[in-house]
Amino acid sequence: MKIESICCIGAGYVGGPTMVVIAKQCPHIKVTVVDINQARIDDWNSNDCGELPIFEPGLAEIVKETRGRNLFFSTNIDKAIDEADMIFISVNTPTKTYGKGKGMAADLKYIELCARQIAKVSKQDKIVVEKSTLPVRTASAIKNILDHTGNGVQFQILSNPEFLAEGTAVQDLLKPDRVLIGGDASTKAGQKAIEALVDIYANWVPNDKILTTNVWSSELSKLTANAFLAQRVSSINAMSEICEMTGADIKEVSKAIGMDSRIGPKFLNASVGFGGSCFQKDILNLVYIAKSYGLNEVADYWEQVVLMNDHQKNRFSDNIVNTLYNTVSGKKIALLGWAFKKDTNDTRESAAIRVADNLLNEQANLFVFDPKVTEEQIYADLDYLGNRFPEDNKNLLQVCSTPYEAIEGAHAIAILTEWDEFKAYDWKEIYEQMQKPAFIFDGRAILDKSKLEDIGFVYYQIGRGN
Ligand code: UDX
Ligand code: ADP
Repeated sequence: MKIESICCIGAGYVGGPTMVVIAKQCPHIKVTVVDINQARIDDWNSNDCGELPIFEPGLAEIVKETRGRNLFFSTNIDKAIDEADMIFISVNTPTKTYGKGKGMAADLKYIELCARQIAKVSKQDKIVVEKSTLPVRTASAIKNILDHTGNGVQFQILSNPEFLAEGTAVQDLLKPDRVLIGGDASTKAGQKAIEALVDIYANWVPNDKILTTNVWSSELSKLTANAFLAQRVSSINAMSEICEMTGADIKEVSKAIGMDSRIGPKFLNASVGFGGSCFQKDILNLVYIAKSYGLNEVADYWEQVVLMNDHQKNRFSDNIVNTLYNTVSGKKIALLGWAFKKDTNDTRESAAIRVADNLLNEQANLFVFDPKVTEEQIYADLDYLGNRFPEDNKNLLQVCSTPYEAIEGAHAIAILTEWDEFKAYDWKEIYEQMQKPAFIFDGRAILDKSKLEDIGFVYYQIGRGN
């Protein structure tokens, strides 16, 4: 089966970049990305790609090359579904905030709405691909809806989880470690659907990197990968606290263990805590699945990864309060970075949100600077917590358009995202602008301790004892 037209429902951090790269690598396929959010689609269509809704290095260049050629962004969802041979579902699957599984299970209402819409609109056979991270066995729910509400149309369901990391999405998509495709190889139609998706990726991904599995293995592999990665961060963060107590240095420990080829050097940076839309959500989802099968020990084991992460964020803000003589009330504190990692404007589950909220509870005056995150987003993140009135958040926290505005007259600086530009700042000049003693709390361990101490700062680095 030759795919000529693809539709992707959901123009977010996963759907957007993934389709942009498919359009680049497959000029013979028409790719239409649809979303219910008109503003988001308008931004994807912005003149000269000046206002793309997502910041990713290298993305705007590819959008310029492909948009209008074989890549289209639209809100006409029905038309795009109708025209497509293959439909990717890339909508959000947040943690449930209500009812059974509240705070743990994935909320599948957006997925279900998509499935119902596909069933209603389709007049010809289609391949439906789950791209969003989903709990194991979601594919069977989608199939059920499609088979029972469709008008005799045949649907094949594939699972094709996305492993891209934000900030490196374009490179991850162009050179993936692997592409995983789960499908039902027990039927001819299932095999054909798998082959059709393999053929798309084979345009640029070597064959030995395209894995095919059954649907459930594919769904579970995605959760497992994220759980292992998050566990690694929580493990190194747990060790960072021991380092601070004992006078060891987590960077030296990371290097020493990373040289063991069984452990490997990547993903061993201690931090103020992991964020992002996937790690916490996927682990909680895994915990929920384990509990629902009565596997309480398995559930407790994985839940500890999230508890450790919460602890890391809280102990970072506690340390700021304790060091500033047990009170930050009325003190100006500059927060550098709000995104959950560098090179993205995404703030979902960012450690900065928790640290800021804790400091606001202590009545600190916060001044935030992030090179890519908008003021609107920062207030939205705080307001979403519901811990104080939006006007109080606005009074207690200012969003700055330059770092120097945030830093001037501050008692302390907290570095919450590892943006490269922070390393290049004139720290001598910054020292002059601050109250004395001038404190830096480096939650990403990106600055040079001895240089800053020579300037005169009281410098605290995550994972480094004195
Ligand atoms: C993650 C997975 O890496 C990706 O495969 C999956 O598709 C989606 O979830 P992402 O959340 O975009 O990607 O970013 P990632 O690079 O994994 O970082 C997640 C969080 O962990 C960030 O807050 C990051 O700062 C933190 N982190 C990562 C550390 O604190 N230390 C590390 O060594 C690595
Ligand atoms: P992710 O990181 O998984 O890509 P995002 O929240 O960035 O998540 O993107 C998901 C997108 O899916 C949002 O832009 C949202 O508007 C869109 N979406 C959700 N439900 C639907 C739907 N039923 N039809 C079309 N788009 C949808």
